[in-house]
Amino acid sequence: MQIIVVKDKVAGGKAALKVFAAAKARGVKVFGLATGGTPETTYAELVASDLDFTDSISINLDEYVGLAADHPQSYAYYMHHHLFFAKPFAASYLPNGLATDPAAECARYDQVLADHHVGLQLLGIGRNGHIGFNEPGSPFDGTTHEVALTPSTIAANARFFARPADVPKRALSMGIGAIMQADQILLEAYGSDKAAAIQAMIEGPVTTAVPASVLQQHPNVIVILDQAAAAKLSVAGQASA
Ligand code: GLP
Repeated sequence: MQIIVVKDKVAGGKAALKVFAAAKARGVKVFGLATGGTPETTYAELVASDLDFTDSISINLDEYVGLAADHPQSYAYYMHHHLFFAKPFAASYLPNGLATDPAAECARYDQVLADHHVGLQLLGIGRNGHIGFNEPGSPFDGTTHEVALTPSTIAANARFFARPADVPKRALSMGIGAIMQADQILLEAYGSDKAAAIQAMIEGPVTTAVPASVLQQHPNVIVILDQAAAAKLSVAGQASA
């Protein structure tokens, strides 16, 4: 794992832009994309850049069950609002949160992933170490599936919704098996509430109790952290940008 510690998430976005530009330069055409507060500065840098994705495919990690693509808190809406409005892709895939047959929708998404090999996968991390919506206990070889979100994740997401009752309790998520297929993975984390998860991911045992710890077994992972997220690492500060 290459660990890059930056001053703040603005600097992190600039470092992430370099990773995207390098991927484009080596011919990557399929990008795995993530949502949440973390990648916002990365998307702002991509929007401001001269990178062109009209020859590329995007595949998002996950979507809430029950939210339509035009719901302001859906991940489809997020992606349009933060990236696609300015940087359209040749095709962009997200799970359909309104699918009447979730099992069929998961199978469709697995076929999308089988048809398009991800060259660069962007990830955030949950406070409990989840990636995508693969909560603790998710199998490392998992495929796309419907998830019951944990109370910790529901609480973390509540800030985006007007009322607690509005926070979705379920999601459709790519599995860890598919995430691990990507040629390169870029994980970003900012803020002290991610420090414990980052420490467990990088320095703890590889265990399904900390889904992100599986990344220790991936040969090409870049981790961009601010100092607060890196604070619990024994290697903190070994690299900077
Ligand atoms: C959700 C998303 C994840 C994201 C996580 C952290 O659970 N499904 O992809 O990494 O939130 O979100 P944030 O970046 O807002 O802390």
